[in-house]
Amino acid sequence: MRSFRLLLALLPLFAPHRSDAQLGSLLPVPRSLQSDGTRLPVDSTLRFFITGFRNARLDRAVGRAITRLEQRIGQPVSRSVGSMPPPGAVVIDVAGAGGAVQGLDEDESYSLGVSPGGARLHAATVVGALRGLESLLQLVSGDASTFYLPGVTVSDAPRFPWRGLLVDVSRHFMSVAQLKRTLDGMSAVKLNVLHWHLTDDQGFRVESLRHPRLHTLGSDGLFYTQAQIREVVAYARDRGIRVVPEFDMPGHSTSWFVGYPQFSAQKPPIAIRREWGGADAIFDPTLEETYTFIESFIAEMVPLFPDAYWHIGGDEVEGKHWDSNARIVAWRKRHGFKDNDALQAHFIKRLSQILTKHRRRMVGWDEILHPDLPAGTVVQSWRGTQYLADAAARGYAGILSAPWYLDHIKPASDYYLADPVPLFDGLTPSQQASIMGGEACMWAEYITEESADSRMWPRLGAVAERLWSPREVTDVPDMYRRLDILAARLEGMGLRVTSHSARMLGKLAPGLDVSPIDSLLQVVQPPSFGQTINGLRLNQRHPLTRLVDAARPDPAGRWTTERFVRRLAIDASDQAARDSLALLLSGWMTLLPSIDSLAIRSPTLAEARPVSAALARVASIGREALGYLASGAPPPPEWERRVRGELDGYDRPQGTLRVAITSEVRKLVALLTKSAS
Ligand code: ACM
Repeated sequence: MRSFRLLLALLPLFAPHRSDAQLGSLLPVPRSLQSDGTRLPVDSTLRFFITGFRNARLDRAVGRAITRLEQRIGQPVSRSVGSMPPPGAVVIDVAGAGGAVQGLDEDESYSLGVSPGGARLHAATVVGALRGLESLLQLVSGDASTFYLPGVTVSDAPRFPWRGLLVDVSRHFMSVAQLKRTLDGMSAVKLNVLHWHLTDDQGFRVESLRHPRLHTLGSDGLFYTQAQIREVVAYARDRGIRVVPEFDMPGHSTSWFVGYPQFSAQKPPIAIRREWGGADAIFDPTLEETYTFIESFIAEMVPLFPDAYWHIGGDEVEGKHWDSNARIVAWRKRHGFKDNDALQAHFIKRLSQILTKHRRRMVGWDEILHPDLPAGTVVQSWRGTQYLADAAARGYAGILSAPWYLDHIKPASDYYLADPVPLFDGLTPSQQASIMGGEACMWAEYITEESADSRMWPRLGAVAERLWSPREVTDVPDMYRRLDILAARLEGMGLRVTSHSARMLGKLAPGLDVSPIDSLLQVVQPPSFGQTINGLRLNQRHPLTRLVDAARPDPAGRWTTERFVRRLAIDASDQAARDSLALLLSGWMTLLPSIDSLAIRSPTLAEARPVSAALARVASIGREALGYLASGAPPPPEWERRVRGELDGYDRPQGTLRVAITSEVRKLVALLTKSAS
């Protein structure tokens, strides 16, 4: 109720001051914002002052903000941060340091006031100040003669305390530089948890001094040294981001057993798994030595990862290697565990005891929900939102991920409209309160660090806003408008949200004019999950340097098309929308000949051909639909039947890529039926 009123307060206030271009570009949208049309000039005379609590972390944050401000306005800004502010300064007033280790209860709220007399940012903690500094930077606006901050009063705090991103570095390794870029982007949208998926069947990515065969034999030499882990954790802390490590057990564990086969349920040793998808390798839960080994490893890792939470995985355990080991089956029976779920619950309980001893709270994927799951465990739902509600109903804290798998290549709007707390889930208020937030997941079967940014961003901004802003902030067109700005902002910070395409195409087609492919990539996208190349299922050995890797999810042409279709749904006689859409579709229909002339230059470029042909056909169906819409005459039923069938076929990838506007053209066809009835 309270946040609904806040939203009502917010909406009209964005509207009257559209001339302040940046005012409405904040992402995530703050809890409340009022603007008064005044301005604080921003130029090289602007000075920053810290008047309250001050420490090195805050100084570094202000230093980074000054650098970004300088880059934005193209002028130097004084780097000496004083404590006696003159009028017109930016005053940062922080009450205290916040947690020595950032906790779930860290106060991230801030208030920001800007007037012609100066700007004042107040926060209870350094992390709150970080959030406010980001908003301040996003507000910087300009006109022909000056840069300025619009006069505003912002009062802001997150809706959920856990706002995360899972990064899988096992399937494809990500360098420290890539992780730092990701952390920069996360802090720009106020995300606060990096869930670092460090081990899986395909790679063990942490240096262990106690058990060195883990990383020497389990990683192909691609692992983080302990110094690098400390570096990443410190970098994240500087940006108000917690780092929660995941060591996935008892399944997803092939890479552990390359060096230490004695702890696996099946011997002899196995190699690092190269294929994607579930493996059967699994810890032997019946051996005391298994727990001694795991505890020794955890004890070594605990000082590297100061966060109070620790993820043990627990997903996708089928237990085939338990079933095929007669000794394990006999042990299971002897100890009264009725099935493999009960055996897994026993294993998880033992892990929980180890973690409790090391003062860490256990997090696991939703398969760990079992009557024997220790109280206090956090359940992360990935198989479906209902598991979050199940966990909450049984008294467990929860994190939502199911709707937020970025590798499923869904449109940003789908990610945006998912909510951790469904409105009609039957949960009591206290059960609802146990839902701590959520995490987007960037599984890395089909990304390398070359394409990773483009597969995460800007869609990740949609999830970040869902987790930070009031639940009523759900305006999809406005989200797309701001995601465009976010993409540009992130590019400016050094992320490769869209720019990776040009670099990858340079590699695929050196010296050729690839502008037709650039245009194609505005309107085609990777398949939804499980990339194949000409029927060949990929594995870890395939370089991801094909056309599909240069493509981006939810490309700009899709939303542009949808926007026009939405306008036509409201008013079928909107001629401007009809003409603009017709022009777009015609452009896409005529790409095929120029793609054809590139396709003869290499087999990789030839991958553009089938999807271009499909695009031409989908666009042509769209043109025909627009024609019927303009004439007001209903299409013949057999036309409609035929094109619907065709469109359904084009939902599937054509070769390695997928037409991104099939659903939008289908909606256009549906309008004909609606307008005829
Ligand atoms: C998962 O996607 N197996 C957590």
